[in-house]
Parts: sequence; structure tokens; C-alpha cells
Amino acid sequence: MTDMDRRTFMEGAGTGIAYAATASAVPALAAPAPHEAPTTTMSLTVNGKVHTVTVEDRTTLLDALRNQIGLTGTKKSCDRGECGACTVHIDGHRALACMSLAVMQKGRSITTIEGVANSSTLHPLQAAFIEHDGFQCGFCTPGMIMTAASLNQSQRQDLAWALKGNICRCTGYGAIEDAIRGVRQVEVAEAGSVCGRSVAAPAGPAASSKPDSGKRRG
Ligand code: FES
Ligand code: FES
Repeated sequence: MTDMDRRTFMEGAGTGIAYAATASAVPALAAPAPHEAPTTTMSLTVNGKVHTVTVEDRTTLLDALRNQIGLTGTKKSCDRGECGACTVHIDGHRALACMSLAVMQKGRSITTIEGVANSSTLHPLQAAFIEHDGFQCGFCTPGMIMTAASLNQSQRQDLAWALKGNICRCTGYGAIEDAIRGVRQVEVAEAGSVCGRSVAAPAGPAASSKPDSGKRRG
């Protein structure tokens, strides 16, 4: 090794030693403080009953219904507004619980599938789904029934369109549409009168409008 080579080597080694000394002097990064999500204690009126819940402000209505109140009839499937399995009524209008924040429902009246029957009497739509075999796995059925119960007569004329926000992976749409068509009581019902519960049929802000958006079933 030449002198120049040794000098070059020692300079390099010195730089490395200095770096190591500097690095060891840097204190370890402190662990980040645990993030506390803000919470809200509020009342949720579901199926005519008032529930006091404490939820993180980011909690969806769907999670509040299922995890806080214990109403698991409303299903979580896609959890991003695509399938309709989580359909409920908010103040008589169809809504996707997975796309609605629980903290925004203060003072509103929420109806879930558990609230459509009157005591031991099935809602006419529930009875019709049984009669027409309007389900296979049944996972989409609560959402289907909640959507069907929200349709006005105009919307019921085009059920393929009206149900486009509710996906049945079993492709049982023929029987589902038969079931909905087979319910005469809903066709003549006024809001709140079906089985004496707060299921709005017909419902919706504009009686002649199509139901809210969603992917057309594939
Ligand atoms: S779970 Fe809400 S739309 Fe699918
Ligand atoms: S009955 Fe199976 S997904 Fe609808």
C-alpha cells in the first residue's frame, strides 16, 4: 500500500468513526403518543327506542347499530356504499348506514330491519320474501326489504332500476322482484301505516324520482 493509499484509507476510516460516534449520540426517537380519537355521547332513536351511546366521531351508523346497540340485522358487506346490505331508513328515507356517521343522526328516527315487523307479525314484505323464496343466502335480504319498503308506486314500476343499489350475489333477483310485486298492502300504504310501524312506504323526497344512486347490479 502506498502512502497515498494509507492516507486515503485513514481519512475514510476517520470519517466512519466520526459518523458512528455522532450516531450513537443521537437519542432514540420517542414513541409517538397514542392517538385518542374524539368521542361523542349522544342519543340514537332506533325503531322507536332511544339509546344512549358513546361513539368515536368517525363511527358509522352501521357500526353503532351493530356494535353499540346490538342490532345485527343490518348487514355489513362492502362497507363502502356499493352493495346496499346496510340499508336502513333515516326519517323515513332510504339510507346506507355504512356511509352515514352516527354523530349526524341526533334527533333523527332510524328504522332497521328489526323494526319493520309488528311484534310477532311480519311486515308484508318479509312474508312475501318467504312466500316467493326471495333469497338464497339471505345476507342481502334485510337491505332489499328496507329498500323495497321505501319505494313509491312510481319506483315500483321499474324494480330493476329501483334495486340497482342492492346487490344480491346469489342473483335471486327474479324471486326478489316477484316478492316485491306480490305485496299489495305496500302499494296502497301510506307512510307509517304498514303494520303500524314507522316504515315509510312510499317514501322519498320526490315521489316521481328514481331512488338514490348506486351501482347497477352486475
Ligand atoms: S355495507 Fe353499506 S353499501 Fe355495502
Ligand atoms: S340472497 Fe344471497 S346475496 Fe342476496
